[in-house]
Amino acid sequence: MFHDSDFLPFTPREKPSFLAVTRNYLENYPPAAYRSDYFVSEGLWPLVPRIHYVTGPELIEEALVARAEDFRRDDLTSNALSGPIDRETLFFADGAEWKWQRRAIAPAFRHETLLALTPDFAACARAQAEDWRELTDGAVVDVMAAMSHTTFAVIEKAVFGASEAFDGEGFVAALRPVLGGVAWRLLVAMFGLPANRTPYPGFLAARRGARFLRAETEKLLAARRASGGERRDILGLLLSAKDPESGRTMTDAELIANLHGLLLAGHETAAVALAWTLWLLAKDQDSQQRVREEVARVCGDEEIGPQTVEKLAFTRQVLLEAMRLFPPAAVIGRQPRADTTLGAHRIAKTEPIYALVWCLHRHENLWDEPNGFDPDRFAPEKAKARHRYAYLPFGAGPRICVGMSFALLEMTTIVATLLREFRVETVPGHRLQLAPALTTRPNGALPLRVTRLSRNAPVRQAERHTVSH
Ligand code: HEM
Repeated sequence: MFHDSDFLPFTPREKPSFLAVTRNYLENYPPAAYRSDYFVSEGLWPLVPRIHYVTGPELIEEALVARAEDFRRDDLTSNALSGPIDRETLFFADGAEWKWQRRAIAPAFRHETLLALTPDFAACARAQAEDWRELTDGAVVDVMAAMSHTTFAVIEKAVFGASEAFDGEGFVAALRPVLGGVAWRLLVAMFGLPANRTPYPGFLAARRGARFLRAETEKLLAARRASGGERRDILGLLLSAKDPESGRTMTDAELIANLHGLLLAGHETAAVALAWTLWLLAKDQDSQQRVREEVARVCGDEEIGPQTVEKLAFTRQVLLEAMRLFPPAAVIGRQPRADTTLGAHRIAKTEPIYALVWCLHRHENLWDEPNGFDPDRFAPEKAKARHRYAYLPFGAGPRICVGMSFALLEMTTIVATLLREFRVETVPGHRLQLAPALTTRPNGALPLRVTRLSRNAPVRQAERHTVSH
């Protein structure tokens, strides 16, 4: 178990604050949220609806799994996110529309299809390693930016088979103001105002960014149509997807929305998870060393590929533990289709329910030393002993993340490829601040020192530099 005061880099507030909504909304979950299973923000602020917060696994299971049909995506999140994410996507679709889109997309995420992508994941990780090789030893790198770059390259390859028609760098740059506006959009949405039409700081830049992203995605679709031929990447599968019942195919609007959605959901979440993983391993050098030794034992000098990636069990445990402490999606929203109850709590159909993954993952009744970093929590026998819904980085039930296996294979390959060659270390004096919005991002950069290891040299015995609370 490794402790560091940065692992909970803020003090939960007894009373919520407006400022915290745009700076770090996680602060607004009170200390009791880490001990109980439910609280309600009754009469929080005038005009803001009553919000039900669920922090225990039984109630979360009821809303997301057992009674999934009784709940839809909540209006507040839909208002805040429809802009950054298109309304026509799988993410927002509901009822029969959702079922057909999910069926259409699912074949692209079959296990064998994904395993066959591991060489692509490894190639993108190697390209990142090549960039790092150019640096002098001990150079400071912003791993948040680096991982965005790497996961974008992965998703670009997997979705489009990479295309000349696409301005990937421009796409990532245009995303910044779009993502940067999400915290403000959440605040605007809390007051029932339309987030697509209500000005907030950075509104115009976010709108320009969103337009550019859409135009780029349209260009891509047009280029693929013009090139003809069938390809087995995700775009190819979407283009040929047909509903077996009605025979319908995706409209252009649905294709563009889903491509855009996959580009965004598929790279931002994984980038955040990878950045936190490297940062946690920079703190906990023992675990970093264990990853390196595992990669050497399982893969030798071979590239990580379909035969080896699933044998990197400890590397995967590290990723799971990193997503426990810093879940890329910290909150999952729902709203009942009609007035209802959840457990013993009455919920009107106008009121959102938020499953607080952040609090669930640090719940004092579910986890020993919840703010410590310990990848061994995810050793199979320990994981089995826990409540099935105590850990939900990808959600649960029918709307569970469609890209879960993709992300796990991708991230395992990337961590293993980078750490077999480089040591990452913390930068003295860096103080972590969170700025969660669409994902649980750090505020600004996440700097780490990167040093290339000589392939044949014995890896330095890791030193433990524990900072206790
Ligand atoms: C570490 C990486 C990732 C995390 C933590 C993550 C997390 C999540 C979560 C929490 C949800 C919402 C579940 C709900 O509302 O109940 C979701 C949905 C979704 N994710 Fe992911 N995701 C990741 C990677 C990916 C990737 C790589 C892709 C695609 C390539 C992807 C595509 C989607 C889509 C399309 C949905 C909507 C599914 C639906 O509503 O049916 N995600 N993800």
